[in-house]
Amino acid sequence: MTHILGIDELSLDQIETILDRAQMYADQLKDGSYDGTCLKGKIILNLFFENSTRTLTSFEMAAKRLGADVINWNAHTSSLAKGESFMDTIDTLNAYHPDAVVLRHSEYGAPVYVAKRMNCPVINGGDSWREHPTQALLDALTIRQNFGNISGLKVAIIGDISHSRVASSNMQLLTKMGASVTIIAPPELMPEKLPAEGIEKTNNLGEGIKGANVVMTIRPQKERMDKVLIDDFHYFKDYGLTHHKLEDAASNAIVMDPGPFLRNLQISDDLADDHEKFIYHKQVANGVPTRMAALDIAING
Ligand code: NCD
Repeated sequence: MTHILGIDELSLDQIETILDRAQMYADQLKDGSYDGTCLKGKIILNLFFENSTRTLTSFEMAAKRLGADVINWNAHTSSLAKGESFMDTIDTLNAYHPDAVVLRHSEYGAPVYVAKRMNCPVINGGDSWREHPTQALLDALTIRQNFGNISGLKVAIIGDISHSRVASSNMQLLTKMGASVTIIAPPELMPEKLPAEGIEKTNNLGEGIKGANVVMTIRPQKERMDKVLIDDFHYFKDYGLTHHKLEDAASNAIVMDPGPFLRNLQISDDLADDHEKFIYHKQVANGVPTRMAALDIAING
């Protein structure tokens, strides 16, 4: 395995290899015993064409923890602004021989295109509404740490399923690992086609959340909507998660969100601050060991 472009092309074995390596790094980060020279002398190029807080920061931390140098290339201050084509920009950066590229791009399939032109491993840091593989992997790591396994769990994913690459990668990963997945969305945010078989769909939160062990909320991705598709007041009433609505889930249910999460739209203020139920901080912290594993496996095998 060199590139990590999507959950789509990872086998169950490869997913488990990454998760095991991520768990190893999560344990070693606690006592500082990780190999800080694992990527010494390597240069990682973070190519982010879209905004990011969590993914960019955690990839940079992961690379630096393993001893790599990082260049955070910025689309807004690059020669793209002078009219250079995407293809020529990628070929130019390739000529510098980076040791790995992490790419975030709004175009569907951009990482696949870049992987074909680059002579180094490419890791997808999120493209369009298609895939965000390392987010799904860190979510899986978090679920596994909490329940010990993923197979047999019921996972409910609530929100803007049709525009979310996180939902798309999670649907694929969770079904591959044997979870049963239900997606809950208003009709206008419910995709017609799903990226995996066997997924239940409903417009009714009370129905979809019944017995769920994991409830994931997904932000309405307004920047990807051609026109206004939701009214915030009605969205929160029908799809905003609260302690009350969570009563229908399993008693041991955890709530997750890839971030950024929107208070009192996706999740009530008091549930967002209930860190027993809403384990967001554990989830984001897992971004570092998961991305250490992704970089280590992509570069060193
Ligand atoms: C997500 C993204 O950018 O895909 N955030 C993330 O990487 N954690 C989700 C989002 O923007 O809603």
